[in-house]
Amino acid sequence: IPVNREMQAELTSPPNVPRPVGKRKAKKLIVNMEILEQESEITNGVSYVYWTFGGTVPGSFIRTRVGDEVEFTLSNHPDNKLPHNIDLHAVNGPGGGAESSFVAPGYEKTFSFKTLNPGLYVYHCATAPVGMHIANGMYGLILVEPEGGLPPVDKEYYIMQGDFYTKGKNGERGLQPFDMQKAIDEDADYVVFNGSVDALTGDNALTAKVGETIRLYVGNGGPNLVSSFHVIGEIFDKVHVEGGDMINENVQTTLIPAGGAAIVEFKVDVPGSFILVDHSIFRAFNKGALGMLNVEGEERKKIYSGEIREGIYLPEGPTIQAMPTTDEIVESEIPAKNLEEQLKFGKQAYNQTCVACHQAEGQGIANAFPPLAKSDYLNADVNRSIDIVLHGLSGEITVNGDTYNSVMTKQMLSPDEIANVLTYVYNSWDNSGAVVTKEMVLKVKN
Ligand code: HEM
Ligand code: CU
Repeated sequence: IPVNREMQAELTSPPNVPRPVGKRKAKKLIVNMEILEQESEITNGVSYVYWTFGGTVPGSFIRTRVGDEVEFTLSNHPDNKLPHNIDLHAVNGPGGGAESSFVAPGYEKTFSFKTLNPGLYVYHCATAPVGMHIANGMYGLILVEPEGGLPPVDKEYYIMQGDFYTKGKNGERGLQPFDMQKAIDEDADYVVFNGSVDALTGDNALTAKVGETIRLYVGNGGPNLVSSFHVIGEIFDKVHVEGGDMINENVQTTLIPAGGAAIVEFKVDVPGSFILVDHSIFRAFNKGALGMLNVEGEERKKIYSGEIREGIYLPEGPTIQAMPTTDEIVESEIPAKNLEEQLKFGKQAYNQTCVACHQAEGQGIANAFPPLAKSDYLNADVNRSIDIVLHGLSGEITVNGDTYNSVMTKQMLSPDEIANVLTYVYNSWDNSGAVVTKEMVLKVKN
C-alpha cells in the first residue's frame, strides 16, 4: 500500500471523539492501543483498580470508515499484572480479533481486519474470566462511518455506561476490590457513565449552545445491565437504533444492550441543564448513572418558559434519602412524661432511624459512619448535635481521632423525637449524660 494510502488513527479519550472521516477514501489505518491497569477514584474517597484500553474507561474512541484496512497493534504495559486481548464487534473474524491479540504484560500483538459494515461497535477484552475483565473497565467504542461520512453536526460526544461490583457497598471508602459473587448475581454497586460517578457532572459536564445539534455515541460495556438511555428535558430527534443503519425518530428513551451501542442526535432548543440518565432510575440517582449537558444561550419562551429551580436533579448517592421536607413535621403522638420515657422513646427512634448507619451500639462503621459511642465530637456540643439531626451534616469532621468526609442527610423526626433520640444517645455508650428537651431543639430550629 502506498504511503499516502496509510494513516495513523487519531484516538481520543472520552467524552471526546476524533475528527469525522468526511469524504476521505478508504485507507490503511494504523491503530496503536496500550492496555494500562491503574487505580483511580470511582467516586469521592472510593478507589478501584481499573483495567483500561488507553488509560480511560471507556477506552480510546476509534474512528474509521467502511473499507478501511485496520492494522491493530495491542500492547500490554510491562507494569500490568495480567494478559489481555481485544474483541472488536466491528470485526468479521474469529473472536473479533481476540484470538490474534492475546498478549502478556510487556508484549504487543498485531492483527489486521477490513471494516465491512458501517455502524457503531463495542470493543472489549475477552480474556478469562471475561466478565471480570469487562467489569474492570475493559471496553470502548469503534465507529465505522459510511462512505462519505455521517452528516455533520455541531457537537459530538462519547459516553459509555458500565456496571461495577465492589466488595464494599456503594460509597464504602478506600480501595475496593472487585466482587465476583456480586457480579454473578448482577447486583451492581455502581452504574456509571464513563467509568466514575462524577465523569459527566460538575466541571466535567458536557456543554453546548442553544440551536446546536448534538450527536452522542453511546455504548454500554455492561458487563450485565441493559441501559434505558434517556436525556431529561430532551427528545432524540434521531436514533441510529443499536448503532446500525435503522433510524428511529422522536424517541424518549432508547435501549442500549450490554455489548451494544446507539447513536442519538438532538437539537438543543433552549438553555438549561439536561440530565443524562439510565432511566432504570435508582441506577441514576443512587448508583451514579447520571451525567449533565449544560446548554447556554438565549431563552426561547415560546418553546419553554417557567421558573428554573436549581438542584432538582442531583445525585443522591448511597444513603437513605429523607423525603422532601415540609416545614411542619408531624408531632409525635404523646410527649415523654419523664427521663425514663424519653430514653425508651429515644431508643425506639434510634433503632428505627439511626441504627442503619451508626450501628446498634453506636460504634459506627470504620471509614464510613462515625461512632456515636464515646464520641468526642458528639459530647463537645449538644446544640451542634441537634443541628446535625435537624439539618444533616457534610464535609470533613474528626471523631475520636479518625476523619470522616461524607454526608448525613437530615432526619425526618419531630422536635420531640429529636429530643428523645439525642437524650438516648447522650445517655448510652459512655457518653456525657446530657438531656435534650424539645425546647432546646426548637431553639436550634428557629
Ligand atoms: C454524623 C447523629 C442518622 C450518617 C453524625 C454525628 C452525629 C450523628 C451526632 C456527628 C459525628 C459523631 O458524633 O459521630 C445521628 C443521629 C441519627 C443519625 C442521632 C438518627 C436520628 C444517620 C443516618 C445516616 C447517618 C441514618 C446514614 C444514612 C452519618 C454520617 C456522618 C454522621 C455519614 C458523618 C458526616 C460527615 O462526614 O460530615 N450523625 N445520625 N446518620 N452521620 Fe448520623
Ligand atoms: Cu483484559
